[in-house]
Amino acid sequence: MADIKWLMCSDVHFPRHDPRKVSLWMDVLRYLKPQAVDLLGDIDDAEETSQWAKGSSKEGFSLSLTGIDLTKEFLREIHEIVPRADKHFHDGNHGWHRHKKWLDQNAPQTLLDKVYTPEVLYEGKKSGFEWHEYEDPPVHRFGDIYAHHGDSISKHSGESVRNDCLNWGVSVVRGHSHRLGRWEQTYPIDGRSIRGFEGGHLCDPSQMKYDRSPNWQSGFLFGMVSGDDVLITPIEIRNYSCMIGTKIFRS
Ligand SMILES: [Fe+2]
Ligand SMILES: [Fe+2]
Repeated sequence: MADIKWLMCSDVHFPRHDPRKVSLWMDVLRYLKPQAVDLLGDIDDAEETSQWAKGSSKEGFSLSLTGIDLTKEFLREIHEIVPRADKHFHDGNHGWHRHKKWLDQNAPQTLLDKVYTPEVLYEGKKSGFEWHEYEDPPVHRFGDIYAHHGDSISKHSGESVRNDCLNWGVSVVRGHSHRLGRWEQTYPIDGRSIRGFEGGHLCDPSQMKYDRSPNWQSGFLFGMVSGDDVLITPIEIRNYSCMIGTKIFRS
């Protein structure tokens, strides 16, 4: 079987995204034309249905929320570039997960009647994406690697994914921490290893007010799948440039 290029990203937080970082990732997508793409959650920020918006003029739900629109457009654009890729959309604690909780409290009949579903919001299926709920367990993707938005949160890069790996007992690619990092534990006696990767973010931290001094790193994950071997590299974005192999991208 031919090798598979696997491109991932997470924590775009539309409309609090950084357009230059998103366009950098799109350039990499166009260049690589990967056979697999995973969006690892928090693509739509969903501020309007968050607990912070509660009681404010921002609170509410509508299909015309900018975050929903931009997420839909993002999926459509990816599909246009890689129509045949194996594409997965893992929901985060933001996005549909948050809208769903708000609707459950404020307009539960719209969920029962399926007026609003992830497909109605983002049209992921239409854009060739397989949908995964945030509450679902991590999804097996390639070799030893499972994908999820992530559950644990620790202050330091690599530690959040370490905790998920140890809790779940599998190797994980994830977002959620907004940190870029990797962690690995090897067991030479029987040759096992468990490893985890945190994919950074593509958002604009200046628009996210919930952390005074966020220890966040911009970036994304890139992998090559060769049979059962999966080689994954966290790609850092520095001053709107990043590197795939020896090729430098700038936006
Ligand atoms: Fe996030
Ligand atoms: Fe998150």
